[in-house]
Amino acid sequence: DSKVAVLTSGGDAPGMNTAIRAIVRKGIYHDLRVYGVFHGYDGLLRGEIKEMELGSVADIVHRGGTILKTARCEEMFTAEGQRLAADQLKAKGIEALVVIGGDGSYRGAKKLAELGIKVIGVPGTIDNDIAGTDSTIGFDTAVNTVVEAVSKLRDTASSHERTFLVEVMGRNCGDIALHSGLAIGAESILTPEIPFDLQEISEKLLRGYRRGKNHSIIICAEGAGDIREIASGLKNYSGLENRVTILGHIQRGGAPSAADSLLGAMMGGKAIEALMEGKSEVMISHFQNEIVDRPLELAFKEKKMFNRKLYELANELAI
Ligand code: F6P
Repeated sequence: DSKVAVLTSGGDAPGMNTAIRAIVRKGIYHDLRVYGVFHGYDGLLRGEIKEMELGSVADIVHRGGTILKTARCEEMFTAEGQRLAADQLKAKGIEALVVIGGDGSYRGAKKLAELGIKVIGVPGTIDNDIAGTDSTIGFDTAVNTVVEAVSKLRDTASSHERTFLVEVMGRNCGDIALHSGLAIGAESILTPEIPFDLQEISEKLLRGYRRGKNHSIIICAEGAGDIREIASGLKNYSGLENRVTILGHIQRGGAPSAADSLLGAMMGGKAIEALMEGKSEVMISHFQNEIVDRPLELAFKEKKMFNRKLYELANELAI
């Protein structure tokens, strides 16, 4: 029987467990032996590899986080670390590794491929910042978490007639900000991809207040700049009081949304399909409304596109 392993790497994301479950169950269904690597590449280097059974993934489909645990591993960036990782897999007769994580994790996978391990990448990150796929596992849940949190902030913003700046995650990608901002009808959405002008935003806020608006919500991607500086800039230009809320790691937790659960199941299943077809160095991708496999290197070579149309729509709706 062929042996395959799965690990999660980088920041955890809701829906990773659903993907792990799909990989383990579909793999076993097709007579593969499936191994779980614990603690990401860190654990791989230490040989933390355990065979998974059908029951190993029972009762996890609805749980956030990752049962395999995860880590960010510096050593995987060194040639020595990469060799050790490949050797740990080979010592157990494991031919293939499915890596659920972001593009940083794919770089390690690419190195393992050069050392004779078949690798499949599955996009798992709340940031939605991976080129080559339209969506990543965890993004939808994170957006929903932001929407829910902002609806609570709106109550107090409205009672006190205040402006709130809400910082959301996403690293260098503004997708969480854009999607949640449009969903909640934010007055402004600040992202790293599009330059913004605090004076203009202040004027818009003041126009809104003159029209009778009693509170405003501004969604700020963490990559757009220092939120405290942005807040004090806005205060200076507009004279309006504001408050800053940093949502932080709450965005990485919680049960996966139905959309992320489905995506995890479909992408996990597709990873096993790709392996059974003998493929390697591919990423599982949500592309043109289908779950397909595409070359792993797209994640490094292509630039993740920012949806300017959506951004423009958000602006048009928040005049
Ligand atoms: O990549 C997911 C993410 O949550 C980013 O949005 C954020 O910038 C980063 O991870 C935070 O990393 P850490 O959990 O290591 O502080």
